[in-house]
Amino acid sequence: MRERASAAAVAVAVAVLHRIQPAAHRDAMASLGVNIDHIANVRQARRTVEPDPVSYALLAELGGADGITVHLREDRRHIQDRDVELLRQTVRSRLNLEMAATPEMEAIALRLRPDMVTLVPEKRQEVTTEGGLDVAGQLSGLTGLVGRLQEAGIGVSLFVDAERNQLEACRASGARWVELHTGTYAEASWVEQPLELARLTEGSFIARSLGLRVNAGHGLTYQNVEPVAAIEGMEELNIGHTIVARALAVGLEEAVRQMKALVQNPRRDPLFGSTSS
Ligand code: PXP
Repeated sequence: MRERASAAAVAVAVAVLHRIQPAAHRDAMASLGVNIDHIANVRQARRTVEPDPVSYALLAELGGADGITVHLREDRRHIQDRDVELLRQTVRSRLNLEMAATPEMEAIALRLRPDMVTLVPEKRQEVTTEGGLDVAGQLSGLTGLVGRLQEAGIGVSLFVDAERNQLEACRASGARWVELHTGTYAEASWVEQPLELARLTEGSFIARSLGLRVNAGHGLTYQNVEPVAAIEGMEELNIGHTIVARALAVGLEEAVRQMKALVQNPRRDPLFGSTSS
């Protein structure tokens, strides 16, 4: 088996690719990471063996998923260790492991080596992730973790709110990616959505001007995804619940195909349909 390239060699290769690819191509379209936690939720509701998220990851890839995302939570409420182990062996796109910044999760990530780790805040009582990580408030601890993961050849993304101080802290941590928290945008009223979209757009601009690469996710749906997909420089959207919900009606492969079409070819007017414009 070939040795993994050193982090430094990879950084040089990425810099060369960025120089030779025309900017228009780099900015062309976001890719789609499909979060399959909710398939595991159905299984765990009965503590049984079906549906198996590992098999459904294959269907998501057949539908065009550019990556598979799972959140291994401390309380193991949906995704189990066994799922991540098998996905590491079977995913042919990219495996993105969402996890809390804890010693237990760090050990798992270093052993399984997903393609990307997205560090997220985690509270036991929450129904789902409630906000971005406070990177600024725990910079020294996170910097060490980011360094150890990247040294092992794992890309690191930090899930944060689109706020300048958090983005500057992300930059200071050494992480190369951020995932902008879109939950507030997703929950905003129809009237307030343009404001939240403007915050995300500015956040993307700030992040890129700091040299960070930008993903986004949380709460995105077939109805609200297009303006976010159209933000300049957006590289990947991580979307789960709405895709799994639609899969009940049309099957997962088709549900992913429909979302990918919106992500790749969003309407360009970011405020379409807005009553306030
Ligand atoms: N990104 C992050 C960091 C998340 O925690 C989640 C939810 O697990 C998602 C994206 C996907 O959110 P949703 O299921 O609402 O699409």
